[in-house]
Amino acid sequence: MLEISKIHKSFGKSEILKGVTIKIDKGDVVVILGPSGSGKTTLLRCINFLEKADAGEAHFGEMRVNLNTASKKEIQAIRKKTAFVFQNYNLFNNKTALENVTEGLIIGRKIPKAEAIKIGKKALDKVGLREKYDSYPSQLSGGQQQRVGIARAVALNPDIILFDEPTSALDPELVGEVLAVMKNIAKDGTTMLVVTHEMSFAKDVANKVVFMDGGVIVEEGAPKDIFSNPKEERTKQFLRRVLPEDYIYYI
Ligand SMILES: Nc1ncnc2c1ncn2[C@@H]1O[C@H](COP(=O)(O)OP(=O)(O)O)[C@@H](O)[C@H]1O
Ligand SMILES: [Mg+2]
Repeated sequence: MLEISKIHKSFGKSEILKGVTIKIDKGDVVVILGPSGSGKTTLLRCINFLEKADAGEAHFGEMRVNLNTASKKEIQAIRKKTAFVFQNYNLFNNKTALENVTEGLIIGRKIPKAEAIKIGKKALDKVGLREKYDSYPSQLSGGQQQRVGIARAVALNPDIILFDEPTSALDPELVGEVLAVMKNIAKDGTTMLVVTHEMSFAKDVANKVVFMDGGVIVEEGAPKDIFSNPKEERTKQFLRRVLPEDYIYYI
């Protein structure tokens, strides 16, 4: 359904993405793991044209777009198929939860307001925020704000949702509610590409895990294989650092 091929991106003299190719089928939940600075955020941002790649292609169903030379029209078309969930939520502080969700529908998608409100409420219900339509971000916990961020993505009904470390800005006790919502939308068959350090999510929800380091994909495979039988030394080292010592035995 989505294939990103041979994507390159440099900032100044340093090449951050060195030819990354990634294939995602409809309904897949693909988790990207990797140390800080390995290019995970840059990869997601290039897929969504928040950043312009130096080279690379996106095959999106029938569409084939050059990530460097895409026209405005092509960029718009790809953006319509994707939604982004940010590490720091990126909500409008002067808008209510519902307005945050409907904004993109009304302005971006030109959906009539009454219809957008219906869709927006449904999306907020889905993430457990039925009571919070009219709350402003400052009146919501971090976990609730991120759930608004997820509702905003879901409301757009994209082909794929890109998540960039959606729980890493949260206090530990708030991580669970966000992961539960993500698990729930995965169960609906939503195609998801998720950068996260939450190994339990990778293990329980993903059907594919990609390990990135230094701007390349070092290893990819089923979660079970990556976690209990990693092939590459760099993957082993990373997992040793992030997993509890006895992890391999209870997987
Ligand atoms: N806009 C930018 N300008 C310059 N350097 C950047 C920019 N964005 C990211 N980088 C650099 O690219 C590298 C990879 O960043 P990033 O994609 O955020 O990694 P990750 O998400 O895996 O931690 C880092 O060294 C970072 O400093
Ligand atoms: Mg990042």
